[in-house]
Amino acid sequence: MEFNAPAGQNLFDRAKIVGKSTPRIDGPLKVTGTAPYAAERHGVAANQAYGWIVGSAIAKGRIRSMDLDAARRAPGVIAIVAATEHEPVGTSDYNYAPLFGGNEVSHYHQAIAVVVAETFEQARSAAGLIGTEYDRVDGSFDLASSKDGAPLASEGGSDFAKLGKFEEAFAAAPVKVDETYTTPDESHAMMEPFATIAAWDGPDLTLWTSNQMIHWGKQAMASILGMPEENVRVDSPFIGGGFGGKLFVRADAVMAALGAKAANRPVKIAMQRPLMFNNGTHRHATIQRLRIGAERDGRITAIAHQNWSGNITQKEGENGTLQTPKLYAGANRLIENRIAQLDLPEGNAMRAPGEAAGHLALEVAMDELAEKLAMDPVELRILNDASGTVPGDPDTKISDRHLVRCLREGAERFGWSKRNAVPGQQRDGRWLTGMGVAAGYRAGPTTKSAARVRMSADGHVTVETDMTDIGTGSYTIIAQTAAETMGLPLESVTVKLGDSSFPVSSGSGGQWGAASSTAGVYAACVNLRRMIGEKLNFDADAANFADGRATLDNQSWRIADAGELTADGEMNYGDFKDGYDVGTYAGHFAEVRVDAYTGETHVTRMLAVCDAGRILNPLSARSQVIGGMVMAAGATLMEDLHVDKRFGFFVNHDLAGYEVPVHADIPHQECIFLDTLDPVISPMKAKGVGELGICGPGAAVANAIYNAIGVRVREYPVTLDKYL
Ligand code: MOS
Repeated sequence: MEFNAPAGQNLFDRAKIVGKSTPRIDGPLKVTGTAPYAAERHGVAANQAYGWIVGSAIAKGRIRSMDLDAARRAPGVIAIVAATEHEPVGTSDYNYAPLFGGNEVSHYHQAIAVVVAETFEQARSAAGLIGTEYDRVDGSFDLASSKDGAPLASEGGSDFAKLGKFEEAFAAAPVKVDETYTTPDESHAMMEPFATIAAWDGPDLTLWTSNQMIHWGKQAMASILGMPEENVRVDSPFIGGGFGGKLFVRADAVMAALGAKAANRPVKIAMQRPLMFNNGTHRHATIQRLRIGAERDGRITAIAHQNWSGNITQKEGENGTLQTPKLYAGANRLIENRIAQLDLPEGNAMRAPGEAAGHLALEVAMDELAEKLAMDPVELRILNDASGTVPGDPDTKISDRHLVRCLREGAERFGWSKRNAVPGQQRDGRWLTGMGVAAGYRAGPTTKSAARVRMSADGHVTVETDMTDIGTGSYTIIAQTAAETMGLPLESVTVKLGDSSFPVSSGSGGQWGAASSTAGVYAACVNLRRMIGEKLNFDADAANFADGRATLDNQSWRIADAGELTADGEMNYGDFKDGYDVGTYAGHFAEVRVDAYTGETHVTRMLAVCDAGRILNPLSARSQVIGGMVMAAGATLMEDLHVDKRFGFFVNHDLAGYEVPVHADIPHQECIFLDTLDPVISPMKAKGVGELGICGPGAAVANAIYNAIGVRVREYPVTLDKYL
């Protein structure tokens, strides 16, 4: 659908509702426990039974036999779908290993059976009676020993693979850094597990589930089960965290659908926590080598970033190089990204896939270079700022970029001038203290997004779109957008999300959701305004909509007088952005104290100064950024999926063993948004921030630890056993 914005439309430059801090409209539902999550959709499917997934006990090999007799005879058991009696299913464009394995096992805890019973306890108990015998074979589980020989991948970053003559320029550089950093496998560790209630009605399948991308989920289920898309309905109005782990349907949805078919009953599966870490996806570990050469004045002349990661296929790994061409200039460059085939569980998107791990290496290497140059690390970054065009890509314009302002303003507000550049010199009683800085970049993508708006006879507007709210505030910014465009108070707008029977939105991923989904809602609202104008006979594009009325040339109309109306709209800003590189930028600062005797690290202050266009809702945007900062601090200090290299699984596969920060680990955090506008990205000139927040702060914490103690740890997480 073509959408033409009203000429001269500057609605959002004089916005009253968009851009204002607005508490989440779904907040009361969330804090009163009345927002129904997937496993709590009581009553959506009558006569619903319970499913329990059995995960493979080996990482690689074959299932020799499964003895199902005892389980089938167990109390309450209705049906068992087992790998030995079923073809493998569950590979689509959106995942790399079959979600239901068949006899061939491709990773640990891959689903090999589902037991359906009258009660949850009966399903769990019967699953324990299944006797499975395997022929286990050895696999590749160690990135470090598998990385050599991995072919060069063609994915992102390779456009800038070679520019100038890196080797010669690096050899000739008077000051250089050549260091290798490692980041571990990490888990999304979201609070709400994968969960689905599946129900068949003849050929129609409904999935009440927890999913970030409704349309992808619908497509994937149709292709996995070999059925037409129009027979699949996905409904996911509330999501208890995803972080990329719920971009794609997973085994809960597939096994619930298969279990429901076999049992001829609706089936609910809430995946048991110990299965989440090896059955779901994770952020893959990386090994990153950074070589940076500079003149004595700090100007970078050569920069190379090589990244190794792995995956169950060599299609896509964790590409840590993505931010490097976007942040720093330098005439001679080398970017390489290699992916080893490993037999660990599937690696896939986790919050800022690529950049989150990449900053942990690049931004520490920059700190190391600054020290060798005896130069302030803020000034080093500013001197080498890649503004204007992307290095190696002179035809692409950068739409709007204020990284230098982020760094300068951050340094000023953080009290950076008080930092002692000599590490290990600042002492406060038993604590060694230090400060660190990092730059942050994350792409600002947008994608096509559609919405429908309905006006009732009393002028109330209801928005319907399959956009999701993964805890990010989508409900609220969509309500703000519709209220602003229609000239209504927020209370006169109802937002309905997450249902595949609604128009297809951008969904929530890649921090594209905020800018894209609101653009689609804006398009639908502009179309509704035009329908109202036609009904009441005025030029809607020229009129001013406020207080439930439209006003033009001293005339005024009550919009509700147009009667019940429904308008669809869709925005695709992809074409408009052609020739532009759209990114979001941040300056990140952190202060830590390290116990001089025990080595315990506390983060004491964190600040992010963000450049992300117009901020649609500063309150919910701040929550996104500080959430990212918490996750980044976790990546630096504690997060680590420990690989058992003999048997090929993540050992610490529960929330007790996989450490994430708690409140006591995180100080008061500050987040400041620059008053920037990016005309290229959306009608609101807004960009997303959900992933920007995790790009950089982890390196700022690592640099602060070095500044405090004078020991550089290049193997994440930076735990005290590595620096004591
Ligand atoms: Mo994000 S990792 O695209 O949910």
